[in-house]
Amino acid sequence: MDITELILFQHEEQRRQFAVLDEIAGEGSEILGALWRRLAAFLEVHAEAEELYFYPEVLRLGHGAPGTHDGPEPETEDAIKDHNEIRDGIRTADANPVGSDGWWAGVRAARKANDEHMGEEEREDLADFRLHADLQTRHDIAVKFIAYEARHWAGIKPVDKDPEQYVEQHS
Ligand SMILES: [Fe+2]
Ligand SMILES: [Fe+2]
Repeated sequence: MDITELILFQHEEQRRQFAVLDEIAGEGSEILGALWRRLAAFLEVHAEAEELYFYPEVLRLGHGAPGTHDGPEPETEDAIKDHNEIRDGIRTADANPVGSDGWWAGVRAARKANDEHMGEEEREDLADFRLHADLQTRHDIAVKFIAYEARHWAGIKPVDKDPEQYVEQHS
């Protein structure tokens, strides 16, 4: 296994699950709510697993986004900030009745934040890690990551992190 492949694959699954919500917009709140709950839990657990197992190793082994000389700190801060924005969108959706305008606004905010974040994460953090972490390390992180997700498949209580504090704690 390779954590960079696993994350990439899960991003595709997230895009697909958001697209499914478009398809079933008219199917009623019970179906919409069930599919949204699964996606929201997936997004939150994926972000938390990255914060627990991937980004500490990016800070340890990364050299920064390819083409820059900034080191891994700014790209990690960006990622944590993005994760907080994704969590914000989920919270907005969950504060509104499923299928209402407020709910869709939260879902769209989470989707937009996630789309922008995945692009950046793939271009910068995953690319940095492929260049600077060996395959055994990438395998070991993938195992911890997927085991965490399996243990928390039904979801977690999402916790925002202060990006600067996170980088300080893990540097
Ligand atoms: Fe990700
Ligand atoms: Fe992420």
